[in-house]
Amino acid sequence: MATVLPARVDTDALEQKVKAMYRDVALNPRGEFHFEMGRALTERLGYTSAELDAIPSEAIDSFAGVGYYFDLAALQAGEVVVDFGSGSGTDSFVAAGKVGAGGAVIGIDMTDEQLAKAERLRAAAGFAQVSYRKGYIDATGLSEACCDAVISNGVINLAPNKAKVFREAARLLRPGGRLAIADIVTDIQLPEGISCDATLWAACIGGAMQVDDYTAAIEAAGLSVMQLRENSAYRFISQNAQGAARKFGVKSVSILAIKT
Ligand SMILES: C[S@@+](CC[C@H](N)C(=O)[O-])C[C@H]1O[C@@H](n2cnc3c(N)ncnc32)[C@H](O)[C@@H]1O
Repeated sequence: MATVLPARVDTDALEQKVKAMYRDVALNPRGEFHFEMGRALTERLGYTSAELDAIPSEAIDSFAGVGYYFDLAALQAGEVVVDFGSGSGTDSFVAAGKVGAGGAVIGIDMTDEQLAKAERLRAAAGFAQVSYRKGYIDATGLSEACCDAVISNGVINLAPNKAKVFREAARLLRPGGRLAIADIVTDIQLPEGISCDATLWAACIGGAMQVDDYTAAIEAAGLSVMQLRENSAYRFISQNAQGAARKFGVKSVSILAIKT
């Protein structure tokens, strides 16, 4: 099972490439990307008007997620949620609406500009139950069994070691807690020509894992996969990305897994 990066990829260079891309996503959301962003995308993926109207529109402008999973997450008032790769904050803000003032949402991201934008919007809109922290999703520094749900949208495919990310999610979840995510996976394992291309990796394609390996990595971390569905409304927009998507069955899925 290929849960780690091919040996030829320089992980430091990859991290810089990912940070540069998502700095642009935060600062220049109307620029040209391999992927779609913004409100029209969120609506097509299944976010409701009520969810979107209640959160800062500038966060939605920089939304770079790949699917909807809040129905699977079934967040309840008062719950504690950790958002892996919170970006400009869309999903953390949506989660905040569901857990309410008595709950808490902690967004983790490694890109300074994404964190700064999310924090600026959080402070202006008064989401007291949300906090954003700089960190890595495979080593958050949060304490064991600290949350009811880990959520993530379009992020884990970017991580060099996905098994480590799922182990970290399992560590943070209390028994019975939920991992509810949307992410990019593939039907066929990607050849190294694609998985070693840092630009395609940063565009959420090159790092995508074969779907059965992906769910096996979740299970190996001590979580039980309860649901997996394809998000057919998600599509890449550059020709290059669309070609790879067709050839290797690169697709978005939403997944619910429970900590047993
Ligand atoms: C495709 S964007 C998605 C952002 C957000 N979830 C959304 O839906 O708009 C990926 C985000 O994950 C962050 N990220 C990628 N790899 C990460 C890692 N290993 N640790 C922490 N953050 C990471 C990036 O900085 C970026 O903000």
